[in-house]
Amino acid sequence: MDHEITFLPTGKRVKVRQGTSVLNAARKVGVHIPTRCGGKAGCLMCKVEVSEQYMPALSPIGDAENRKLGSLTSNGIRLSCQAIIQGDVVVNIPEDSFKAAVRKQLEAARNKESDDLW
Ligand code: FES
Repeated sequence: MDHEITFLPTGKRVKVRQGTSVLNAARKVGVHIPTRCGGKAGCLMCKVEVSEQYMPALSPIGDAENRKLGSLTSNGIRLSCQAIIQGDVVVNIPEDSFKAAVRKQLEAARNKESDDLW
């Protein structure tokens, strides 16, 4: 059985077979999710956000994932390498902290420029 997964914020979608990990679905459609451990629940770099509405479309949180994520699981965070697709699902790829810091600095510089023009 195939299921559709949608990746936010890009909106890219792909149909995958039941049992595919979110990480492998992302790779199939060219959505970059950082990893360092090769999908072994070791690096915590592959986090994705899933709203409560879509949690039943993923496998239950396993022991390794629960140990690594702790309380983050209650905020809808999953490890994409451990979350197995069992239904149509939408996941959000959070912006990484380095990119977020650069974006904030660029926005601040732009705002200062426009203030200086007046
Ligand atoms: S790929 Fe490293 S924890 Fe998922």
